[in-house]
Amino acid sequence: MKLGCCYYPEHWPESNWADDARRMAAMGLSLVRIGEFAWSRIEPEPGKLDWGWLDRAIQTLADAGLEIILGTPTATPPKWLVDRMPDMVAIDEDGRPRGFGSRRHYCFSHPGYRAEAARIVTAMAKRYGDHPAVVMWQTDNEFGCHDTVLSFSEAAANGFRNWVRHRNQTPEALNEAWGNVFWSMEYRSFAEIDPPHLTVTEANPAHWLDYHRFASDEVTSFNREQVEILRKHSPGKDITHNFMGFFTEFNHHDVGRDLDIATWDSYPLGFLEQFWFSREEKSRYLRQGHPDIAAFHHDLYRGCSNGRWGVMEQQPGPVNWARFNPAPMPGMVSLWTIEAMAHGAEFTSYFRWRQAPFAQEQMHAGLLRPDGKDAPAVGEAREAAELIRDLGPQQIAKAQVALVFSYEAAWVCGIQPQGQSFRYLELAFEWYSALRKQGLDIDIVAPDADLSHYKAVFVPTLPIVTDAFLSTISTLACPVLIGPRSGSKTQSFRIPDDLAPGDLRTLIPLTVTRVESLRDGEQENGDGWSISRWREDIESELAPEFALNDGRGVVYSHNRIRYCSAWPDRSLLDMLVSRIAGEANLETLSLPEGLRIRRSASNLFAFNYSTEPIRFDLTGQMIDPAGVSVTALN
Ligand code: GAL
Repeated sequence: MKLGCCYYPEHWPESNWADDARRMAAMGLSLVRIGEFAWSRIEPEPGKLDWGWLDRAIQTLADAGLEIILGTPTATPPKWLVDRMPDMVAIDEDGRPRGFGSRRHYCFSHPGYRAEAARIVTAMAKRYGDHPAVVMWQTDNEFGCHDTVLSFSEAAANGFRNWVRHRNQTPEALNEAWGNVFWSMEYRSFAEIDPPHLTVTEANPAHWLDYHRFASDEVTSFNREQVEILRKHSPGKDITHNFMGFFTEFNHHDVGRDLDIATWDSYPLGFLEQFWFSREEKSRYLRQGHPDIAAFHHDLYRGCSNGRWGVMEQQPGPVNWARFNPAPMPGMVSLWTIEAMAHGAEFTSYFRWRQAPFAQEQMHAGLLRPDGKDAPAVGEAREAAELIRDLGPQQIAKAQVALVFSYEAAWVCGIQPQGQSFRYLELAFEWYSALRKQGLDIDIVAPDADLSHYKAVFVPTLPIVTDAFLSTISTLACPVLIGPRSGSKTQSFRIPDDLAPGDLRTLIPLTVTRVESLRDGEQENGDGWSISRWREDIESELAPEFALNDGRGVVYSHNRIRYCSAWPDRSLLDMLVSRIAGEANLETLSLPEGLRIRRSASNLFAFNYSTEPIRFDLTGQMIDPAGVSVTALN
């Protein structure tokens, strides 16, 4: 695994560049990402391209032996461009334009902006496409960051009308699919259809689902346009995009198919603070991040681009954007780095090189302080670089367990949650965490992935089941656990004629006759376990494998398929994981709180996310807080 950093030569006097580059190389970094926000310096005046500074920056970095990842600058269209084309900005759900003065203010559907993006990407690709030091391109930056996938602009509305026309052929077919007879929502022509925002109460969920699908397709095609330009003018160079954490607003599997390598931006402390974790978890893991946050995304993004992936931005110290921004415990930056390697990353790149003393991110740590002196992360990056060198290249070990992850499932659950705490990401994360707590290595895969070589498959929920998925699951010989709400909707967001789980009934004979959601804090008990948030009434000839104390069934099993009809607590999940692992002949461990492991083909890595030393029973080693142990496998 290589190490690198994110660098903004345009933020610093040119006289600093050579010394910065020298220090990067001396620290053990070999990659540097630049350029992704530099449009106003590349093209200060419309049509007047100023390559001089970027030529020299690239050469200076190359002269120090660094390899360059060059970002296309389309996340930051300059002021003159917005002024020329004021309707290129996205419109938010409340109908307000997203103004100039930060970033990501464009609408994915605006044809004029698309053309401008293609123009600047073409110019960059022609200029640097065959530069020997440019080894990789990054398209744009974090599609969707700051809530920018959905836009409600006129351009988006037009795009959507074409999209629904293409899928439905006639307005009658669309009315039928969406069920528009309800509340007299019928359309006489596609031209009458608007985006589903600003309605009096909730818009039709089928309308919303199609709007999500449409918006996701817009991101995919925006990325693809850049990829095609880069492939043409920079053949043979890898292309990536840096995805975000806990983000499901577009289908990353679709975008990933057009990339050579998927990358993501890892901010474990910011994510712990900003997402659903309990107060107790937030304080227990304050300076470490929850032990499954980084790994979850490593395993998710490895499944987004044929197994090739990396960390484009790694948190090196306190960030600026969460509600509270603690500093990492000493050792964590190094631990996060090595953990990425254990999960098969090709590189980890720290964000950013030097903390900027100006503008929005002046409170965001870098490897260097704003005065250019080393910040604490430098020592840890060096330490990680040494360990990486000593260990040599690591081949990723093939995981034996697959967890099926669906962006469409996230949209469906978000559009009509039915209980406000039914959060798709949280469900998937809890299932992942339960598997990992038992020491299993996991691949997080798309619903259309080949599942044939796994020993166990977990599907936290998949409300819309395609024929292809059904046939994949029906040919598996391994145990499969399918979660609540699976098969509960058709492609056009209707309840199946024969009720949930729809076509999954061919795999397990049961019917969901009624569902209920429970307020936070409410639970129903079984023997040593409980369920919360969501519960289904099941009609079936099968005797439940797990039932509540009053006899109502929760888990049903038939041949190798299990259906769990509620939101299981940790104990029930643990029992299910153990039982399934036993049937699959998978060895499990009971890892102490805070300890996690991952195998490469040659080594067993253990990571201590707790604030106390932990004994790792399998190897007998004591591992310090934020410590990593590496044991050779034979
Ligand atoms: C990322 C983004 C970077 C920077 C960073 C700060 O979301 O890609 O440009 O803003 O966050 O943590």
